[in-house]
Amino acid sequence: MSRLDQVEESATLRLADLTNELKRQGKDILGFNLGEPDFNTPSHIIEAAEKALDTGKTHYAPSPGIPELREAIAEKLRKDNGLDVKGKEVIVTPGAKQAIFAACFSLINKGDEAILFAPSWVSYDACIKMSEGKTVWVKSNEDGSVPAGFVDHVTKKTKLIIINSPNNPSGAVLSKKDLQAIADVAKDRGIYVLSDEIYEKIIYSTKHYSIGTMIPERTITVNGFSKAYAMAGWRIGYVTGPKAVYDNMLKVQQHTISSPTTFVQYGAAAALTGSQVPVAEMVKQFHARRDVVVKGLRDMGLHCEMPEGAFYAWPKVEGDSEKICEELLGYGVSLTPGSAFGPGCNDHIRMSYASSMDQIKEGLARMKNYFSR
Ligand SMILES: Cc1ncc(COP(=O)(O)O)c(C=O)c1O
Repeated sequence: MSRLDQVEESATLRLADLTNELKRQGKDILGFNLGEPDFNTPSHIIEAAEKALDTGKTHYAPSPGIPELREAIAEKLRKDNGLDVKGKEVIVTPGAKQAIFAACFSLINKGDEAILFAPSWVSYDACIKMSEGKTVWVKSNEDGSVPAGFVDHVTKKTKLIIINSPNNPSGAVLSKKDLQAIADVAKDRGIYVLSDEIYEKIIYSTKHYSIGTMIPERTITVNGFSKAYAMAGWRIGYVTGPKAVYDNMLKVQQHTISSPTTFVQYGAAAALTGSQVPVAEMVKQFHARRDVVVKGLRDMGLHCEMPEGAFYAWPKVEGDSEKICEELLGYGVSLTPGSAFGPGCNDHIRMSYASSMDQIKEGLARMKNYFSR
């Protein structure tokens, strides 16, 4: 059997195809399935990349990234996250996704197990399987917190626990208490933790904590620029972790992508060292949209936890999420079925609010027509 036989094509693809087909036919469909900010990259970042292009930064970069950017990332991790990281301990990657793949590929061998909390972003499971590991699913509580008995899922084969806070798709933010519980288990049982912190900056009335402050010797911290700086198409992210894992991840990088695109790295450095006002502006708009979306969904009679971060709402629905999303298309809105995000998630749908307020209001009105029919 090929190691890719077990990896499914993105479960959201069928619906995306259907949406595109309907749009091609001229149907008016509002998309609420976007996984990236609808804002443009701030201009000072674009200018830094343009300057890099104009000044010949078009050659290979050092495999783990340009020193300026690795230093800026380390400084950010120290200042924002309280992690004791040096520039030489950072690998710059083409997106957080590649960092997640490199971490899984470095840590998981055939038959090893990795714990994933459902709902979970779609690519972790695929990265575990491509590394010939086995995903052990643990259902999160409805409010996104870690279930008390999660330690019962740890076996001798468990190598990795993957966490994602703020969470895609639920928007839930893990509390310090939950992070400590995971850190204690990881420490006791000698397990690594991969902490995907890509939505860290898109957070509302709560605080983000990095588990790496609790167990630095066991944590691989992944982050990126796609969400906080609206740079999804630039393909740039980063990872840091303990030396042994770092060394293996660097081998993956050296022999697959060589180095991330050179001039893009200058843009990313400007994102970290320049004004953070555009980030705050974007978060302010996401916050206002979140409030409208959650109120709208609750007014339809749907149960929806208040998402504390990211730009997704995760309402509960009755029936099969794929069928519901297909039917919603008939009402002119495209959402993502919960079934894409792991076992036991078919009773939810994901609504991204990376769309204008006007579109959100119109979309909610269309959804209301469907749910009150
Ligand atoms: C939770 C999560 N992690 C990682 C990624 C990938 O980010 P990047 O664009 O940096 O590869 C995404 C993108 O949707 C995501 O939602």
